[in-house]
Amino acid sequence: MRTRLVRFPPAGSPIPRATIGAVWREPDPEGALRSGLMERLSSRWLSLHCSGREALRVAFRYFADRTGRGEIVVPAYTCYSIPAAAVAAGLRVRLVDVDLAGQIDPEALRKLPLERAAALVVGNLFGVPEPTASAIELAHRAGVHVVDDAAQSLGARSCEGPVGARGDVGLLSFGRGKPLSALAGGALAWRNPPEPVDDGLALEVSDDPKATAQRVGAMFRAVAYDLARLPGILRLLVAIPALHIGATVYDPGFRRGPMGGASVVLAAALLQKLDVMNRSRERVARAIAGRLVAETGFRALVARDDEFAIYPRMGVLAPRADARDAALRGLGWLGVTGMYPGPVDRIPALAAHLADAPVCLGAREFCARLITVPTHAGLRASHVEALISELRRLS
Ligand SMILES: Cc1ncc(COP(=O)(O)O)c(C=O)c1O
Repeated sequence: MRTRLVRFPPAGSPIPRATIGAVWREPDPEGALRSGLMERLSSRWLSLHCSGREALRVAFRYFADRTGRGEIVVPAYTCYSIPAAAVAAGLRVRLVDVDLAGQIDPEALRKLPLERAAALVVGNLFGVPEPTASAIELAHRAGVHVVDDAAQSLGARSCEGPVGARGDVGLLSFGRGKPLSALAGGALAWRNPPEPVDDGLALEVSDDPKATAQRVGAMFRAVAYDLARLPGILRLLVAIPALHIGATVYDPGFRRGPMGGASVVLAAALLQKLDVMNRSRERVARAIAGRLVAETGFRALVARDDEFAIYPRMGVLAPRADARDAALRGLGWLGVTGMYPGPVDRIPALAAHLADAPVCLGAREFCARLITVPTHAGLRASHVEALISELRRLS
């Protein structure tokens, strides 16, 4: 196999140039971020946290205290930070199987005992809105709160509303490769103000986002993020094991606390261009998805025509597991990844915290056939040709 001197990022978008100006111009970055997100998500309370997983931990603890219940229902294929947040909140994880779109299997959810569940997480992976109406109805009838996870899908919407606004609380992440990549931070967008508002929910941002130091910090982050995305540089960074770039780790010992000022400044500046970045990735994703159907045996996980998805990366299902493994070997340089290393029921350190010992066959098959392909503006026509031609060969 040819050794490539480049590696394209699997997700996210380049930072728009206007963002640097906005870092300096916005008089009240925290106010702008709060009001911008609350308006988008019709939310009446927004809390800012140092990461998405920390935000989830706080929400899970809040729902557990309100209900007196000790389990969180988590999709069996999802980001490992979700079960890690449940364990960090002192709770058990009950898995619900997923279908071949990576979405909660309604039949599996119906069969689940929910009497000990405090909350259910809807994942909305790959920027695609998951249907929520019947899951919410079922959950609410059983006294279970619903977290509409928009970590990968801020800006996506279905006829049920914007992703992040359809449950009791919406989760946002501002980490690397997310729709709003401020390199750190997370938020909870509450439909109704939580009550009582305890320490975890009334956090101040850790440093004043109006201060020059935080604006300088935001600018450096933006520049560093963009440099690290350059294919020649990213290839070198990925080769440094200590940086854990692209690695998924299960770690309930994550940092706790509020969001930092520099992240607030950068997130507020990026929010102004969120829709432009989302539309650009959506166009690339649609074009690739169309060619996959026409020319290969691979199928993209796309939204229905009456929905809008934002694809920070696009999920694609291989016709067979061996074709998936070969695609990962041959197209890693182009930013094609396998997303998470395995389904959640296969995380060894989580086993002691699982309610029951589930075997989630849907999640296993999904994981065995899933690749993700990049959708960002760094992809040129020749890269798309290389992608399609390799996937055609492997079909
Ligand atoms: C679906 C989903 N939920 C939650 C999270 C947690 O966010 P963070 O990485 O900011 O802790 C992530 C992030 O990777 C995610 O992809």
